Amino acid sequence: MQAVQAIPLGPGFAAEIRGVGLADVAASDAAYAAVRAAFDEHSVLLFRGQPVTNELQAAFSQRFGTLETAKAASLGEGTPFSILTNIDRDTGALVPPDHKEALRAKANQLWHTDSCFKVPPALASVLSARTIPPTGGETEFASQRLAWERLPEARCKRLENAYAWHDYAHSRGKIAPHLASERERSSLPPVRWRMRWRNPANGRDSLYIASHTCGIDGMPADEALALIAELIDFITKPEHTYVHVWQTGDVIMWDNRATLHRGRPWTNDKPRHMVRTTITAGAADGLAQMWPPQAAA
Ligand code: OGA
Ligand code: MN
Repeated sequence: MQAVQAIPLGPGFAAEIRGVGLADVAASDAAYAAVRAAFDEHSVLLFRGQPVTNELQAAFSQRFGTLETAKAASLGEGTPFSILTNIDRDTGALVPPDHKEALRAKANQLWHTDSCFKVPPALASVLSARTIPPTGGETEFASQRLAWERLPEARCKRLENAYAWHDYAHSRGKIAPHLASERERSSLPPVRWRMRWRNPANGRDSLYIASHTCGIDGMPADEALALIAELIDFITKPEHTYVHVWQTGDVIMWDNRATLHRGRPWTNDKPRHMVRTTITAGAADGLAQMWPPQAAA
């Protein structure tokens, strides 16, 4: 195996991986181990020039754990592939701006971590660019780990044993009141997780909140929403963020325990088609610490 290099991209997180690609990780334990270590260290990994197919993306992603199936009423429902696109599958035409997929793209432009509204939540996401617009449509990342390290200690002390509620319908409601359908709401009731996620590989902590976060146990609703907004503003300050400008062949993997991300807008007259696989968090990823205490249920 070639030596694996991690070239820093962002201010203290995010790196481009050279020396191994998706196929190496799928085929080799040593390549997987090196990339897994880089993932725990850098939180966002970029692989350039990948000959990506659904099969290769799944074979790579499966190395890291169990794959999620795409949620109810989404493109790709029931498969491991979540499809983010403005191309109508039946006609091949671009969807109008009020189309559900266009509104979903807008919701993806809110800072979030994937699947904090699921049980179990996600460890990582792997996103491949299949069709990219000439300008715009970047993906931006923010380090919840750097943010945690730079929050005042007294605040961390209060947050580390606090539990927040996450609700898919909450973030969708910020875009359009009925964007989350009844079927989506009933399949994804609100869930609660600890607000600090400690990575067992290195002991580093992150603040676990997102645009899906709708409340904090023991705090009045308006106070909780104000605190969540203030914390997201803090996490997403420029000194904690990296913007990725996509090139054909790029694949990015990110740590949903330790980063927020959002899509950036582009003009809707240009196609953009992305495919995501998502890896469920397990015991080795520090999931046990995240469950709320039974007594508070
Ligand atoms: C995602 C996501 C943003 C983008 O795939 O989970 O939020 O830029 N994508 O497409
Ligand atoms: Mn996302």
